Amino acid sequence: MNIENLNLDEILQEIENAKSKEEIERIKNKYLSKKGIFLSIFASFASLTKEEKVSIGARINKMKMSVEDKLKQKELSQFYEEINQRIENEKIDISLPSRKQKLGAKNPFQLVVDDITEFFLNMGYKVADGPEVELDHFNFELLNTPKDHPARDMQDSFFINQNTLLRSHTSAVQAHVMQDAKGQVPIKIICPGKVYRRDNDATHSHQFGQVEGLVIDKNISMGNLMETLTLLLRHLFGKNREVRFRPSYFPFTEPSVEVDVSCFNCNGKGCSLCKDTGWIEILGSGMVHPNVLRLNNFDDKKYQGFAFGIGIDRIAMLKYGIDDIKGIYTNNVEFLEQFAKEGE
Ligand code: PHE
Repeated sequence: MNIENLNLDEILQEIENAKSKEEIERIKNKYLSKKGIFLSIFASFASLTKEEKVSIGARINKMKMSVEDKLKQKELSQFYEEINQRIENEKIDISLPSRKQKLGAKNPFQLVVDDITEFFLNMGYKVADGPEVELDHFNFELLNTPKDHPARDMQDSFFINQNTLLRSHTSAVQAHVMQDAKGQVPIKIICPGKVYRRDNDATHSHQFGQVEGLVIDKNISMGNLMETLTLLLRHLFGKNREVRFRPSYFPFTEPSVEVDVSCFNCNGKGCSLCKDTGWIEILGSGMVHPNVLRLNNFDDKKYQGFAFGIGIDRIAMLKYGIDDIKGIYTNNVEFLEQFAKEGE
C-alpha cells in the first residue's frame, strides 16, 4: 500500500457511512489492525530515505490519529443511537386510560353500628364484647331467666346442646361484664354484636344485630334511662321526634319499658310505615332487676342500673327505607352501592 493512494477525507467518509457496530469493527480492522493499511505502510519504510521516512511517517501518524479519533467518535454516536432506539422500542404507552376502580361502601348495618357506637363513646361509654356461642348460664340464668322460665319462649333459640346456644340477645354480655367487674362500679358499656333466633320473614332473619347497653352505679334512676334513650332516638331519627315509654316485660329488668319514637315519615299523623299508629317501636329497656344485680355479685341495696337492647337491622331498615332484611345480608353490590354516600 502506498501513502499516495490514501485519501483521509474518503476514509473519514467511509467511517461516517458505517451503519452498524460490525461495519465499524470491519473498518477498524482494515486500517488499524496488525495487518491493517497503516501498519503495512510502515512496513514498506525500509526502502525509503531517512528524510522520506521522517516526512511520510509524520503524515501517516497524523492521518492514523485522525482515523482513530473518528472511529472513537463514531463508536460513541453508534452507542447512543442504539440506546435511544432501545428506549424508543421499550416505551410504555401511558396514554391508555386505567380501569375505573369502584369505591366500596359500608353496609347499612355497619353504618348504624358506627353511628350508635360513636354516640355512646361521646357519652363516656366503653365498648364490650362477648362470645356468639354462649352458655345458657350467661344467656339466661344470670339474667334472672332460669330453666322453664316462660319468658324463654320470647326468644326462639338455636341450642347446640342443653347448656350451649347461639346467643339469642346481646344481654348475655351484660352478665359477662358484671361478672368481670366483681361488684365494682361504675359500669357504662355498650356491646354491638350478632345474635341468633329462629325467625325468618321480610323483617326478621335468623341472624341479626343488637346493641346492648348497661349502666350500673349509685343513684341511677329511670330518669337517666329516659334521658339517655330520648337523646339516642333524637340523634338517630331527628331532633323533633317525640319518644314514648310503654310498660313491658323482660325477666332481667324491672320495671321494663318498650320505647317508641314518633313516626318520622308522617310526623305522628299515621301512615303505612307506622301502621297508622303515629309511633314506631324501637327498643326494649328497663331498670336492671335486683335479682340480676345479686346474681352477678352486685349489692342491690347500694347500686342500681339500667339496660337496653336495640335491634340494629330494624334501625337500618327504618332509616334507609329497606323493605327486606335479606338486603343487609346478601351482599348485592347494587344494593350496597346506594349507601356509598352515607359512609363518607
Ligand atoms: N334482650 C332484650 C331482647 O333481646 C332487649 C333488652 C335488653 C331489654 C336490655 C331490656 C334490657 O329482646
